[in-house]
Amino acid sequence: MAKPPRVQFICQNCGATHQRWAGKCDSCGAWNTLVEEGTSGGIGSGPASLRAARKGRAVALTSLDGDIEDAPRIISGIGELDRATGGGFVRGSALLVGGDPGIGKSTLLTQAAAALAARGHRVVYVSGEEAVAQIRLRAQRLGVATSPVELAAETNVEDILATIADGRRPDLVIIDSIQTLWTDLADSAPGTVTQVRAAAQAMIRYAKSTGAAVVLVGHVTKEGQIAGPRVVEHMVDAVLYFEGEGGHHYRILRTVKNRFGPTDEIGVFEMSDKGLREVANPSELFLGERHAKAPGAAVFAGIEGTRPVLVEIQALVAASSLGTPRRAVVGWDGARMSMIIAVLEAHCGVRFGTHDVYLNVAGGYRISEPAADLAVAAALVSSLTGLALPADCVYFGEISLSGAVRPVAHAQQRLKEAEKLGFGQAVLPRTSEDLAGGIGGKAFQPAELADLVARIAG
Ligand code: TYD
Ligand code: MG
Repeated sequence: MAKPPRVQFICQNCGATHQRWAGKCDSCGAWNTLVEEGTSGGIGSGPASLRAARKGRAVALTSLDGDIEDAPRIISGIGELDRATGGGFVRGSALLVGGDPGIGKSTLLTQAAAALAARGHRVVYVSGEEAVAQIRLRAQRLGVATSPVELAAETNVEDILATIADGRRPDLVIIDSIQTLWTDLADSAPGTVTQVRAAAQAMIRYAKSTGAAVVLVGHVTKEGQIAGPRVVEHMVDAVLYFEGEGGHHYRILRTVKNRFGPTDEIGVFEMSDKGLREVANPSELFLGERHAKAPGAAVFAGIEGTRPVLVEIQALVAASSLGTPRRAVVGWDGARMSMIIAVLEAHCGVRFGTHDVYLNVAGGYRISEPAADLAVAAALVSSLTGLALPADCVYFGEISLSGAVRPVAHAQQRLKEAEKLGFGQAVLPRTSEDLAGGIGGKAFQPAELADLVARIAG
């Protein structure tokens, strides 16, 4: 007697499977995310697992010596994109581009597709969200309507694979978006974890077996996750996030995972009415028009991936009318700001107790480096005392809870970028690196945060 098909409940947030329905997922703690899905179509289940096993061949690692070169790449010629992918799309790999709806993912990939097609590659753009006519309209707006990119409006994986199997092997296949795909092998609705996982698996298998590069587009939820299928992130070779702040024209393509290149790399673009424009020198962008004489602004010399980026950090410390003063941070970690405030109060005799504190990173930029501590502290003290910082000074360094200023990596590179942009002074940790070449010797290297505070209040 055939067993009745087993049902499972799959968390649409993290992809964990549960035997019984529950209001809350044990695995990720999300509420109301369990959805009943059939078990067929899972990898290794169904008829596929009945095929006869084939013997593979194991090779000695050392025997690979010499015949492996760098991963073969397809270069788009869009510098910022190639930088973020680690030097171009890798053949036979799958890449996920995530981002909020409307941020410009389709725009970016249309431009990339056109650039690659112009270099003689066969590029297929599969859209499950827009009709071919709509893609054409966008291409017209981007000025690439005559490019030899092939367009297809399909959502079924088997149809897509049949479509692209026609003709020359494609070099790049773009799937916009993974959430619209569905495969005959799984019987859940499109957009569910089971479908997205099975469809992604099929596309990744296609990439590996044909040597084409496959780009999957994924939408991100409000909480900043690729909607539903976090699981896809683990399956692909590289994950890029396309992000930007509301109201700003800048878009940042950020590498969060890359099996073939560096992570934490960024590509910077500006959205215009004719599509995305590369921003080759992001420092100039994030420094904006600086009002040098205003208190509360400090320039942080940061590093994103392999590239130095100068960003202005702005603080506003104002007397509060509230019992509990407000603390608000945009573009940096709020907990870290509280920590800096606590260190300033404990070790430097500065009082923020009755003040509201606001911190903003200019240009809609987001900083994750602890090296920004020193710049944040300088901006806070400058705003509190009403004394402007020197306009041509950059800051970087990590602050420990004891008030010590700790060294950070890439000091030389940060100083070089600052010099290039006309900065003449730096406040940085004491490092063993030889900094004689940097900043013309005008560097202040405090051992303690208190030294910097004394100098600002000076
Ligand atoms: P889109 O690429 O469709 O976003 P996604 O695929 O991430 O959902 O971009 C949509 C937004 O970009 C839309 O608000 C209009 C804007 N846009 C421009 O400003 N200039 C352009 O040239 C294009 C094509 C779009
Ligand atoms: Mg889109």
